[in-house]
Amino acid sequence: MSKITAAITAIGGYVPDYVLTNQILETLVETNDEWITSRTGIKERRILKEDGKGTSYLAIKAAQNLIDKSGIDPKEIDLVIVATATPDMKAAATAAYTATQIGAINAFSFDLEAACSSFLYGMSVASSYIVSGKYKKILLIGADKNSSMINYKDRATCIIFGDGAGAALFEPNEEGYGLKDELLKSDGSGRDFLQATYGGSSYPSTPEAVAEGKHYIFQEGKTVFKNAVFNMADVTIKILERNNLKNEDIDWLVAHQANKRIVEATANRIELNEEKVMMNIHKYGNTTSATLPLLLHDYESQLKKGDKLVFAAFGGGFTWGSIYLTWAYN
Ligand code: UT7
Repeated sequence: MSKITAAITAIGGYVPDYVLTNQILETLVETNDEWITSRTGIKERRILKEDGKGTSYLAIKAAQNLIDKSGIDPKEIDLVIVATATPDMKAAATAAYTATQIGAINAFSFDLEAACSSFLYGMSVASSYIVSGKYKKILLIGADKNSSMINYKDRATCIIFGDGAGAALFEPNEEGYGLKDELLKSDGSGRDFLQATYGGSSYPSTPEAVAEGKHYIFQEGKTVFKNAVFNMADVTIKILERNNLKNEDIDWLVAHQANKRIVEATANRIELNEEKVMMNIHKYGNTTSATLPLLLHDYESQLKKGDKLVFAAFGGGFTWGSIYLTWAYN
């Protein structure tokens, strides 16, 4: 019997209609299009504006897009994972609601939270379940409504984040395509530099905390930037080395879209040509758990069976890692 690998067999994506441009941000905080573009590469982001709609709304739309495109029967899905840093609610899994709404009535479901590395870690989880032989169809959705935790008076964060979702279906593959190797890391000393302090179990929300904006996300951008640049490149180089991959062997770098300069630094360290670097940060900003699947969604038509993809992510926690995967379909 041939060895089973876990391959991505379908992709979906969704971003909300409302476009928050740099020009609009210029009216909210002291910033300008030139600064944002040169320091981050971002021109605009999408925001989910409607009241009462949370991350599940984005996740359901992305999953529905995947279902419509692939023709898969949702009743055949065994597991739905929603990778997110912004669940709909506490104590009620966003994934459970999402699964029910898309008709995945035979699936179990759970959320996976590892900040901007949530989808990357989710790829490892989905793949391990498939390779174990326990489950055959796993829907991994990366979705975040970042606007729910952004202070639109804080120019250190409001220029960066956007809302969106992407979905990937993982299935067994007998031709050897799919996830080949992974290197996942975390370091809890990093949480001082990127967090939303109030609203969790350590510091539940109080009227005073909310009045002072302490429930919003805060980051010490420079420290996060330095750690992201070093660590994303470090794990990517290690993944290449231990799989005997030279830069000319790689077809695509699929890197978390936190800042164009961070992605470029990783690409430069492995001497990869610009045209092999997936990039969509200019139109969506940093969508946290959704950046990797939204890249796959945007570039899907250019991907060919056998293409070698190297994923990299870095985020709050700190959490980071790299995954090497071969593409399974044309
Ligand atoms: O997904 C993972 C989580 N997040 C990240 O990976 C983000 C990592 N960090 C970054 O992307 C960058 O650090 C930022 C984009 C957040 C900031 O860029 P930077 O090049 O590190 O800028 P800085 O914070 O060092 O600020 C440089 C200057 C400062 O002015 P002075 O002190 O040099 O006069 C800031 O006050 O730019 C000023 N500045 C701004 N100016 C216009 C800071 N933010 C803004 C702004 N518009 N939005």
